[in-house]
Amino acid sequence: MSVIILGIESSCDDTSAAVIKDGYLLSNIIANQNVHKAYGGVVPELASRAHQQNIIPVVDQAIKTAGIKKEEISAVAFTRGPGLLGSLLVGTSFSKSFALALHIPIVEVNHLQAHILVHFIKQYQSENRLPDFPFLCLLVSGGHTQIVMVKDYLDMEIIGQTIDDAGGEAFDKCAKVIGLPYPGGPGIDQNAQSGNKFAFTFSKPRIKDYDYSFSGLKTSFLYFIRDHIKENQYFIKENMNDLCASIQHSIVEILMQKLILASKTTGIKNIAIAGGVSANSGLRSAVLDASEKYHWNTFIPEFKFTTDNAAMIAITGYYKYLNKDFASQDIAPLARFKY
Ligand code: KG4
Ligand code: ZN
Repeated sequence: MSVIILGIESSCDDTSAAVIKDGYLLSNIIANQNVHKAYGGVVPELASRAHQQNIIPVVDQAIKTAGIKKEEISAVAFTRGPGLLGSLLVGTSFSKSFALALHIPIVEVNHLQAHILVHFIKQYQSENRLPDFPFLCLLVSGGHTQIVMVKDYLDMEIIGQTIDDAGGEAFDKCAKVIGLPYPGGPGIDQNAQSGNKFAFTFSKPRIKDYDYSFSGLKTSFLYFIRDHIKENQYFIKENMNDLCASIQHSIVEILMQKLILASKTTGIKNIAIAGGVSANSGLRSAVLDASEKYHWNTFIPEFKFTTDNAAMIAITGYYKYLNKDFASQDIAPLARFKY
């Protein structure tokens, strides 16, 4: 009998629902929350309210697009954490009630593991290669930066991580300094296309092993801009593309240096990237270059699977369902959630 998983994602500012049948994606609906743009970052209270408004229409559309009846769903998989507690509560409560009404189990999912497992989502219209175990995954999002050794679908070990800001946060904070809207990563990426990445250089962190640090870079960027504005008030406007290309280049170099080190030391050449920042064109091409140079077997996710989505929750839920790893109805979300 087929296994059909409804996935629910509500950890930050995207409300998403997806349906996966036997590992194949049937639908993946995402409602973004534009309400935060005016504030330069996600406002938790507004995010929870928007999830509350969006969740039922989003789930309804995911089920309709998938062409299934809700009675066919085998289990509901939901993001338990990490994330904003108020946002997580909406997805968790919805999933529990929905499953209770249909007499089906619920499956708790760690959002970060889910970002990594996007590489196992199968699609009817396009055949994709699936990674072999073990592989290394560079996971870079708005809240996390990790190098993960993936030994099996649900057996992962974090071998390196940021000691302060995340890679996505570095993009967002630098973007804010030069007046780009939140989230800043896509704006920097776009402007960087026509800029010179060697125009400006910024300080690089010296951190042990496979760990990262981005707070020094952010501060050096801030001071650099402040000093130049004192001399020329139009400095940002006149150098926007070069600034974006240079800061993107610095972030990508920092990310790649530790990934290359991890691959060399562990001898693992199956390399994947995941998370919102894996949409970055500079990072994607740097991974492809390294792949050629070091003979890596590289896995780069489709753009639609890089930022937050419920397809990744559903695929993780699918593997946990096969293990009969169900959660009980008294489960609560976790703002911090280690795996
Ligand atoms: O994974 P994600 O959607 O949410 C979290 O779990 O945090 O990642 C969001 C992050 C934001 O920091 C955003 O600026 C960044 O991903 N991002 C990008 C790009 N697209 C999204 N950063 C650089 N270049 C991009 N093209
Ligand atoms: Zn995420």
